[in-house]
Amino acid sequence: MNKEKEKEEISAIHPAVAPLSYLLGKWKGEGEGGYSTINSFRYGEQLQFSHPAPGKPVIAYSHYTWKLDSGLPMHSESGYWRPKHDGSVEVVIAQSTGLAEVLKGTHSAEDKVIKLQSQVVANASKVREISRVYEMVNGELHYVVQMATNLTALQPHLKAVLKKL
Ligand code: HEM
Repeated sequence: MNKEKEKEEISAIHPAVAPLSYLLGKWKGEGEGGYSTINSFRYGEQLQFSHPAPGKPVIAYSHYTWKLDSGLPMHSESGYWRPKHDGSVEVVIAQSTGLAEVLKGTHSAEDKVIKLQSQVVANASKVREISRVYEMVNGELHYVVQMATNLTALQPHLKAVLKKL
């Protein structure tokens, strides 16, 4: 392959990433957290999906959250999403609490829904399992995060709606 052609290919969105290109960019919104063992709370959130290495089949992901009343920081996390041509996707996320997640699941370009289920939850004192569903609804990004702990079965912890900036 000549150098020009090679350059063109690596500056384009990787074909495995293309079906998820609607995610790319910055998103901002609010969410609601809760669990059967804690008081519910509301939070602000900014989230980013980027494709920093266009020749690679990888989306970089990060989010940070804050208290709505004071603006003080809450949880943050970042990682990499690796979509495949067969509609599967694998995701690795490091959380500010020290917890690490590896999730696998599916993405549908048609429905714009991504469903993820943890394969590994590491360095967690209570969390045994995590599921995440991200969905485009009328141009907004909606997600639900559920978790199971050593005492409690899988149930929602977070629910948020974000708009593209
Ligand atoms: C509580 C895990 C994301 C805010 C908790 C608890 C766990 C947990 C295990 C303790 C539940 C219990 O004591 O039974 C996780 C996991 C997350 C996540 C695995 C991501 C997958 C977030 C985010 C926020 C957040 C994004 C903020 C926007 C809170 C708050 C509490 C809590 C405020 C209650 C703390 C307290 O009252 O002591 N979380 N969390 N969490 N989480 Fe999360």
